[in-house]
Amino acid sequence: MDIIDVIRTKRDGGTLSDEQIRWFIDAYTKGIVADEQASALLMAIFFRSLTAHELATWTRAMIDSGERLDLSTVTRPTVDKHSTGGVGDKVSLILTPLVVACGAAVPQLSGRGLGHTGGTLDKMESIPGWQALLSNERFVEILRTSGAVIAAAGAGLAPADRKLYALRDVTGTVESIPLIASSIMSKKIAEGTSALVLDVKFGSGAFFPDVAQARELATTMVGIGNANGVKTVALLTAMETVLGRTAGNALEVTESIACLRGGGPADLVEVTLALAREMLALVGLGPLDTPGAVDPATALADGRAYRAWCEMVAAQGGDPDAPLPVAPHRHIVVAPGSGVLSRLDCRAVGIAAWRLGAGRARKEDPVSASAGIVCLAKPGDAVRAGEPLLELHADDPERFSGALAALADGAIAVSDEAPPVPRLVLERIAS
Ligand code: URA
Repeated sequence: MDIIDVIRTKRDGGTLSDEQIRWFIDAYTKGIVADEQASALLMAIFFRSLTAHELATWTRAMIDSGERLDLSTVTRPTVDKHSTGGVGDKVSLILTPLVVACGAAVPQLSGRGLGHTGGTLDKMESIPGWQALLSNERFVEILRTSGAVIAAAGAGLAPADRKLYALRDVTGTVESIPLIASSIMSKKIAEGTSALVLDVKFGSGAFFPDVAQARELATTMVGIGNANGVKTVALLTAMETVLGRTAGNALEVTESIACLRGGGPADLVEVTLALAREMLALVGLGPLDTPGAVDPATALADGRAYRAWCEMVAAQGGDPDAPLPVAPHRHIVVAPGSGVLSRLDCRAVGIAAWRLGAGRARKEDPVSASAGIVCLAKPGDAVRAGEPLLELHADDPERFSGALAALADGAIAVSDEAPPVPRLVLERIAS
């Protein structure tokens, strides 16, 4: 097989054969194909896309590049959730113990944050003692005993994606629907879950702000999941403003615990419950008239979800009662006028939180556990000029100026009229 032929085929708008795709994924994973040649092929795919058949073969080859976890000894039905990422998206922290409290097992392999969106592992690591790295044996054992695991994906799972994603990150080839869909789904299928709910975000803080592109990504991923024996459904959910009121690692853990104790912001609870209901229905533990079904809203209100959280944290070495880190420095951003807060731009808040230290620019960078932003008002709230709007938290006060620059230039607006109330859950995609 000749890599230059493979590149030329895609560059010129042709269709790659199964053999070409399987050979490329294998040869690149083993280091036989050079980075610059793989980059050229990725760029050709970025512009020419992949046919449905090419995409199926590409995804299958990525799954086959590593191991597939065997969860057959887990007696509860397994169901996972994946979000395409957003600002203040702490849903996994609440949803995992919640769905476990309702009878399922949740094998949640998560990632770290990059750029303006946060990562579940970074959030969980702000809990003293909590460990993200588990052996496959320990991962399965926790699933069997307590049912809830949030952990880092091991190196053996879809290693082709690990290499390809790192290369895409530095070659401007991330924002391609077939490449994103195959990257996410290869890892989720290799993880061994029987069912999967995708939370595909649209809006200013999302990967794809445009709803049509978000829908195409969702439909593509649902197709891949179902074709590979994983029952898959997607919800399209809004990411126009911060989900909940916090963005930043320990701040988001605190807000998640408030939800798990039956409180928390209404928007965060709404998205979490919508996803929980989909997850439970996929594995036969819902809808509510199903015999034995537990209402997730009840499990949040009566403490069952919180108990499952404490068990989940402790199983990975964390102390659920330990105080979380608190930033030593704060800065208040005030309302620029009186009226209704009509705009609090999601991406700007994400970038500001990142500049405060909550996120990383490169994979190797450390993150601050305590830095971030608390939104004291959200779009639609009445505000008065000079009233506190945002609370910025940082370990180092020098970080405030960069964060404030991200929030300038129209990120915050106050007007006389209330903005339209957005629908948080826009659409369900099942095929
Ligand atoms: N997350 C992934 O895992 N892969 C992508 O390609 C994009 C986001």
